[in-house]
Amino acid sequence: MQIQAGIITISDRASAGDYDDLGGPALKQAAQKIGWQVLAEAIVPDEMVRIQETIRSFARQGCGLILTTGGTGISPRDVTPEAIRAIMRVELPGFGEVMRAESMNITPNAILSRNLAAVVDQALVIALPGKPSGAVECLSFVQGAIPHGVAVAQGTPTSC
Ligand code: MTE
Repeated sequence: MQIQAGIITISDRASAGDYDDLGGPALKQAAQKIGWQVLAEAIVPDEMVRIQETIRSFARQGCGLILTTGGTGISPRDVTPEAIRAIMRVELPGFGEVMRAESMNITPNAILSRNLAAVVDQALVIALPGKPSGAVECLSFVQGAIPHGVAVAQGTPTSC
């Protein structure tokens, strides 16, 4: 099954053009290396409604997998987990647990990320940290479960 992915960078400063978005391109490169097709990309500010609209729009466009980078921490503007939880059907706590546990071997700051995965409409949404290397690292820790997760989220009959 060809995975169609959408990538959303969530950052006030990157969306305002104050600095270049490095996280989105890093995730795109990682996704393409795995063999996924990147259908859609966006940079949005740390605003709940913008995040939610973009996720839903990507799901409607056929992205079975939506990766977000940024806004998972504890800065006053970080709202990515709240935005996703307000529109999700189910959360998949194992993704956040594994991403944090594995990342603790790389940096003690990993515990400050509220990484998560959830099913929104028919897409598997994975919220990764904002640091480009951290986003790619976290994706690699959960990559193995993604094809099956996307298939089940899309309602495709599949055997484990
Ligand atoms: N996870 C990995 N694997 N590598 C990292 O460098 N950075 C951490 C953490 N998770 C990091 C990581 C840091 S410094 C923060 S503040 C949190 O992710 C939240 O990042 P965000 O608010 O940019 O999403």
